[in-house]
Amino acid sequence: MLKGKTVLLGITGSIAAYKIAYLASALQKLHADVHVLMTENATNFINPITFETLTGNKCLVDTFDRNFQFQVEHVSIAKKADVVMIAPASANVIGKIANGLADDMLTTTVMACRCRKIFAPAMNTAMYENPIVQDNIKKLQHYGYEVITPASGYLACGDTGAGKMPEPETLLEYILREVAFEKDLSGKKILVTAGPTQEAIDPVRCLTNHSSGKMGYAIAKMAMLRGAEVTLVSGPTAIEPPLFVKVVPVTSARDMFEAVTGVSDQQDIIIKAAAVADYRPKQVSEDKVKKKDDQVSIELERTDDILKYLGQHKKNGQFLCGFSMETKDMIGNSRAKLEKKNLDMVAANNLKVEGAGFQGDTNVLTLITQDEEVSLPLMSKEDAALKILDKIISLMK
Ligand SMILES: Cc1cc2nc3c(=O)[nH]c(=O)nc-3n(C[C@H](O)[C@H](O)[C@H](O)COP(=O)(O)O)c2cc1C
Repeated sequence: MLKGKTVLLGITGSIAAYKIAYLASALQKLHADVHVLMTENATNFINPITFETLTGNKCLVDTFDRNFQFQVEHVSIAKKADVVMIAPASANVIGKIANGLADDMLTTTVMACRCRKIFAPAMNTAMYENPIVQDNIKKLQHYGYEVITPASGYLACGDTGAGKMPEPETLLEYILREVAFEKDLSGKKILVTAGPTQEAIDPVRCLTNHSSGKMGYAIAKMAMLRGAEVTLVSGPTAIEPPLFVKVVPVTSARDMFEAVTGVSDQQDIIIKAAAVADYRPKQVSEDKVKKKDDQVSIELERTDDILKYLGQHKKNGQFLCGFSMETKDMIGNSRAKLEKKNLDMVAANNLKVEGAGFQGDTNVLTLITQDEEVSLPLMSKEDAALKILDKIISLMK
């Protein structure tokens, strides 16, 4: 995912420095060229050898070290960088960079970088809330540097409060958003629906289905990484909401219909990956369902057909994609759906094919449009999401 990208990690004198070993390793696994710059004080917390081993690159601490790979190292490495993340960022380094000081390898290199700079402050709450630190953070933001708001929690110093560096998995997401893909969906608004819906029968039970939400979440994440402004309307799932995506949680088909139709006319692309329950109980029992002779009967009615509504109200230039899950005549049934619901594309899968459909991390899709059918092999849901987006982009040109 990060092949050909150069990521600079700047580490300062904070106890959170050890967490960056995980980040460096994760970036390396995604094939980024990772260079770590440490302040002298940071080397008290974690040894540069850790990073040299993880990244295969020399860890840079001393601006005047002559055992170098580059001509003028801080300038060459700054030119090469696609993104620089200073994490943990100490109060000291934040203050130095905000005020134009460049007196070590890290601060000098950051000063020479033209690429995006992201700071993840980590410090004791009193330090973080100090108005001088806050002014320095505002100054960085004023100059276009991104500063991640630290989390609140138990800090290594024993205090509880703001100042906690986000976990490395979160820091990785910030880097991926910056450099993971070409931003070929920038300026586009995309609405994705995901997960199942739940239709209450009584205060305890509900009608639902096996959708995990994984396909829709993968589409939302990949579209965001490709620069789109993404809204994800999601039924109940066990998945962590993706960062940088506006998530609208819903429960029932009615909730989903309202959430979707409330924003659908502002969207360039709508992808309905949710498995909306087709039926709901006509009346929700106030009390538990009453059984009679071990027989339970519930009167059902159809839920709103969200896709049909979207097809009927499609605005000019809007792209509408639905999913179809079939057990037989996948192509025929999906084509009928394409026509009947005025869709631009159907991503179809056959539930009988191994590796396709609900729950798993993979899918086997056929992308059906007016003019063609493209069968994709078994792949991860993230790769399938990328293929769906590629197809939509090519058809919108
Ligand atoms: C155990 C320990 C933990 C520290 N943690 C932090 C921290 O999280 N954030 C911070 O701004 N300073 C922290 N400091 C203080 C910095 O290390 C100190 O301000 C140092 O001058 C920063 O140097 P640097 O910014 O050049 O890395 C810590 C110091 C010690 C001894």
